Amino acid sequence: MPPITTRLSGSGLAFGGDYNPEQWPEEVWADDMALMREAGVTMVSVGVFSWALLEPAPGVYDFGWLDRLLALLHEHGIAVDLGTPTTVPPAWFYQRHPEALPVTKDGQRLAFGGRGAICHSSPAYREAATAVTTRLAERYADHPALAMWHVHNEYGAPVSECYCDISAEDFRRWLRERHQTLDALNEAWGTTFWGQRYSDWAQIQPPRRTPTAGNPGQQLDFKRFTSDAMLANFTAERDILHRLSVGVPVTTNFMTALSQCRSVDYWAWGREVDVVSNDHYLVAEAERTHVNLAMSADITRSVAGGAPWLLLEHSTGAVNWQPRNIAKRPGEMARNSLSHVARGSDGAMFFQWRASRFGAEKFHSTMLPHAGTDSRIWREVVRLGADLGRLAEIQGSRVRPDVAVLWDWHSWWAEDMEWRPTEDHSADERADAWYEALYDRHLTVDFAHPEAELAAYPLVVVPSLYLMTEAASANLRRYVEQGGVLVVSYFSGIVDATDTVHPGAHPGALRDVLGLTVEEFLPLRAGRQVALSGDAAMTGGGLLSGDVWTETVVPRGADTVWRYADGPAAGGPAVTRHALGAGHAWYVSTRLAPADLDRVLALASQDTRLDDREDLPRDVEIVHREGEQGSYLFAINHTAAETKVPLPVPGTELLTGERTVGRLCVPVGGVRVVRLDREPGDEPRG
Ligand code: GAL
Repeated sequence: MPPITTRLSGSGLAFGGDYNPEQWPEEVWADDMALMREAGVTMVSVGVFSWALLEPAPGVYDFGWLDRLLALLHEHGIAVDLGTPTTVPPAWFYQRHPEALPVTKDGQRLAFGGRGAICHSSPAYREAATAVTTRLAERYADHPALAMWHVHNEYGAPVSECYCDISAEDFRRWLRERHQTLDALNEAWGTTFWGQRYSDWAQIQPPRRTPTAGNPGQQLDFKRFTSDAMLANFTAERDILHRLSVGVPVTTNFMTALSQCRSVDYWAWGREVDVVSNDHYLVAEAERTHVNLAMSADITRSVAGGAPWLLLEHSTGAVNWQPRNIAKRPGEMARNSLSHVARGSDGAMFFQWRASRFGAEKFHSTMLPHAGTDSRIWREVVRLGADLGRLAEIQGSRVRPDVAVLWDWHSWWAEDMEWRPTEDHSADERADAWYEALYDRHLTVDFAHPEAELAAYPLVVVPSLYLMTEAASANLRRYVEQGGVLVVSYFSGIVDATDTVHPGAHPGALRDVLGLTVEEFLPLRAGRQVALSGDAAMTGGGLLSGDVWTETVVPRGADTVWRYADGPAAGGPAVTRHALGAGHAWYVSTRLAPADLDRVLALASQDTRLDDREDLPRDVEIVHREGEQGSYLFAINHTAAETKVPLPVPGTELLTGERTVGRLCVPVGGVRVVRLDREPGDEPRG
């Protein structure tokens, strides 16, 4: 991670949370300081929602309380991640500029009274946001407590898109830059279909509610535009901060979990921040919440280019905004925190420090709960602070990945539009399923952009990549020819960047590399299943089961490994393998049951140089970080049984200080972190 660490008090992992002391009388602050010291808090996020206090009237600023707060924090050795408050403009702003409130696809203007009600194309918003950011930066640029700037809050939530007339104008400006000419736009959007041809830029609108399916190219470009419009507001603030507060890193908190944010292209955003930070909240009712957590952490690290990142928010217990807010059980908060750390976070921060007595989030868990310090959560918070202190040397080390999964937000946007072969298919569902299968094989996953360099990965999985450029297609071909093993799931490589079908038979971008064509999509009726029978010698026999999707696959060089035993594609290939150059490309043309996905992965892995780690129990998470100080093995036991993890070499367990040789014992629900006795980088990848 860039300079942030050098500005923190000492080095080590960051620990703390959102701190909103403006909700409390100032005499409480002294208490907060004492308790933060007790818990080992190193950094807090301040001022994220404070615009109305900092600028009570247009152009009238009141920094007194923030001056006092920053001084107090500094006095107690607590670093500050200082928010620009631009996620909630004050009521006076909207009184003057009601046009800055966002408008939905149906034409409804949203109201003030929640948060994040912003039209990101509004010049008035931009002007007010940059003004308050400038004043903050001028005042606190060199403050000794300042460790990092935190711009806005979670771009992409709760609304991103705005369909108002101002946005329409901005969209047209963006389209002119992208397409240059109206002819090019008409071609990209395929407007000859249904007579949608435009003869004047002024005719073009955001994709507002239409009587039937709207133009897909227009919808896809609007998604791109929306991500870019938010990014422009971020970079406007960032540039002010860089200019006035030289050397202080700037972040904005991402939400990389696919279930949490769809509207931000994090590949593009990851390049624009100095420190990638992320907020993650469990989908608490899910059975295996730790898998989704791991996936979000892996995506975050990947958008950071493999560098350490920072978990800026998660929860100590229950959130308050899900249908049923299932609370974390003893030990779960620590496991969650340390899973993020294992996967590259240089700290664990929370929303929020002290429980609010009023407002929409008073039932959200916190570090210091309503119950006070005589509570389980507080005791676990204090313990976590101490544990993170023991892991200080891990800061700056990098995660060692095993395999890559290709992911692209643009493809997701295109894939999940209306009028696809079946509404039962969704890209994120496939990404979740393949990720889970890899997780269950104890493989650490990097996510990669389809055009990224892949040579280092012995295995690359494409869960669903409907939209694929020529460059991505060439990239995958090169990867396989040079010895890589590629596993591709159905409905991938179908269209180009404009949502236009690649010429010829599906999957146009992958025909050559997979050695097959797809003649017809044959989606299944709801709830129907098909059976797949395998070549006995190769697969060991037995049937696999699929649902949702089948298709007519025509091999053109690929070998059939499993065939459809029944269903609309009966007799035809279902899973294939193509030898190409020095590598192999596998294709899976149906939605396999989880255990069957694993069987395919097991077979495909035999084509790779991956270690077999099947002897580890399910739900025991093993991740490696490597740095200048050492090579670290994280073992996280999500099961209800004690487990023993084989160590490649002896080492020192950092949380207990014990020497460990042979097998590492990880207690029920516990975490162990071993510094292995070896020079960093000794162990080969994979
Ligand atoms: C985050 C947000 C925080 C808080 C939290 C509650 O999305 O950034 O301000 O609302 O959710 O879970």
